[in-house]
Amino acid sequence: MKICVLPGDGIGPEIIAQAVRVLSSLDLKFELEEALLGGAAVDASGTPYPEATQKLAREADAVLLGAVGGPQWDTLAREIRPERGLLGIRKDLNLFANLRPAILYPELANASTLKPEVVAGLDILIIRELTGDIYFGQPRGIREENGERVGFNTMVYSESEIRRIGHVAFAAARKRDKRVCSVDKMNVLECTQLWRDVMIEVAKDYPDVELSHMLVDNAAMQLVKAPKQFDVMVTGNMFGDILSDEASMLTGSIGMLPSASLDDKQKGLYEPSHGSAPDIAGQGIANPLATILSVAMMLRYTFGLEEQALRIEAAVKKVLAQGFRTGDIYERGTSRVGTREMGDAVLAAL
Ligand code: IPM
Ligand code: MG
Repeated sequence: MKICVLPGDGIGPEIIAQAVRVLSSLDLKFELEEALLGGAAVDASGTPYPEATQKLAREADAVLLGAVGGPQWDTLAREIRPERGLLGIRKDLNLFANLRPAILYPELANASTLKPEVVAGLDILIIRELTGDIYFGQPRGIREENGERVGFNTMVYSESEIRRIGHVAFAAARKRDKRVCSVDKMNVLECTQLWRDVMIEVAKDYPDVELSHMLVDNAAMQLVKAPKQFDVMVTGNMFGDILSDEASMLTGSIGMLPSASLDDKQKGLYEPSHGSAPDIAGQGIANPLATILSVAMMLRYTFGLEEQALRIEAAVKKVLAQGFRTGDIYERGTSRVGTREMGDAVLAAL
């Protein structure tokens, strides 16, 4: 088991340290190699996804990532911004399937801004296509036209790209409540008409799974109105970016949500759904649980170690039940702890 560890920027190194402690406590044989990605890589080598990192990431079975980005790099040229490093590694490793679960832990029911009865028991899996769409489509740019600047990007999906993410969604739904809601904007965009057509074709291979369709604007509304209607949602790169942030906030605690980005074999990049939180970086107060839960996803999806994955998830539930809370999920009557103490609590629960 070769794991490439990319702490990244902001709170990345702090939360990764706790995730690595948890991983190391499991009595598994693995090799960890650390490399730079994002702003840290720009500072060290002038590029957000350096060759040394590429080499390690390609050779590894799995990548564990903290987070990238921060205000000090926001004024850099677009090609060397930290976010480019993230998009670069996704594309380079062909990580087309992004799994973003949004689960409400019963102990955190009050963290949501929605009424408890609307979100109690919430368990949605958003499957976002991650290597296509307007994020990567050509042509793109800003040009002069008739004496003014015109900005343009291209939304594009091939049939095969839609089909492979469709299979990921239906296969995932089979292990859950057997319902897939495909999100598109077929009333306006041809690209997403094709998306819908191909999803209907893919569904024929999964007669036991129910397929429904929703336009993205309605999906955004339904997510806050009646989020529990969803089991698996599958959508393109840009809609998925937006809807997954929205879904994560239903739980009120983005600091709790892991994610996996998978290729067509078993390789994956695992990272918390939250960002680098530069405002609290270096203070030892960030919530490491999303990163620790990302380790659980890594053990499950890349290494097939379901039992160990469940152990980590149970340990996280236990520390919540014991009342340990980092600042982002703190409420009166619980014990506020820092990043490392939260790691200690998970280790003790394990
Ligand atoms: C995400 C992030 C990235 C994205 C950014 C940082 C490039 O928002 O992972 O959702 O848009 O994909
Ligand atoms: Mg996003």
